[in-house]
Amino acid sequence: MAKEPGDDEMVIRNVEFLGGMAERHGWRPESSLPEVAFAGRSNVGKSSLLNSLVRRKSFARVSKTPGRTREINFFRINNDFVLVDLPGYGYARVSKDKKSEWRPMIESYLRRTTQLRGIVLLLDIRREPSDDDRAMLDFLAEMEIPTIVALTKRDKLSKVAAAGQVALISRALSLATEQVIPFSSQTGEGRLELLEAITELVQAVPEADPQ
Ligand code: GTP
Ligand code: MG
Repeated sequence: MAKEPGDDEMVIRNVEFLGGMAERHGWRPESSLPEVAFAGRSNVGKSSLLNSLVRRKSFARVSKTPGRTREINFFRINNDFVLVDLPGYGYARVSKDKKSEWRPMIESYLRRTTQLRGIVLLLDIRREPSDDDRAMLDFLAEMEIPTIVALTKRDKLSKVAAAGQVALISRALSLATEQVIPFSSQTGEGRLELLEAITELVQAVPEADPQ
C-alpha cells in the first residue's frame, strides 16, 4: 500500500466505541485521555467524517434521516485520545422544543470536560453559516476552546465553486482561509490535513489551571 504523508504521526491501529451519553449530566466513559469533539448542524456529515477519519465503514452511525445521532458518542483511538460525536443541532423539521434540546446537552459536555483539547466544527461547504453555527462558534470562542472548521461535502461542488465558498464562508465568520479545511468523506479529500490538525490539538500541552 502506498505510504501517505502524515502516516508517521497518525496511525490508527485501534478504534473502540466506549459508549454514549444520553442526557445532560448523564453517564460518560471514565477516561482522562485528551478529547476532540465534532459539532455541527444535523445532517452536515459528522458521523461520516468520523468514519472516514478512522477508516471504518460504519463506526459512527450515518443517517438517512437527519437528526439521528441523539447521544454523545465516545470513540477511543489507540490508547492515545478520544473522539466525540456530538448530536447535530438545528434540524429545521424537528419541533422547537426538540430543536433546543441540543444546547444544554452540548454546553454541559463542553463545560464539564476538562480534558477537551478542541472542537472540529463542521459546516456544509454549500451553505451559508446558520444562526446556530454562529452561536456555536461564539460559544466556543467565549469558552476559549481551540476550534478547527471543516467544510463538508466538498465533492458536491466543482473546484472553482468550492474555492469561492471557502472564501465566502471564511469572510462571513471572520476566519482566515487557512483555518478552514475543505473535506469530503466520499473522496477522502482533507482527511490527512484534518488528522494533522487533530494530532496537533491532542499533543498540545494544555494550559495550567489557574487555581
Ligand atoms: P446527524 O447525526 O443527524 O446530526 O447527522 P450527521 O452530521 O452525523 O451526518 P451523517 O454523517 O449522518 O450524514 C448525513 C448525510 O450526508 C448522509 O446521507 C451522508 O451520506 C451524506 N454525506 C456526509 N458526508 C458527505 C460527503 O462528504 N459527501 C457527500 N456527497 N455526502 C456526504
Ligand atoms: Mg451523526
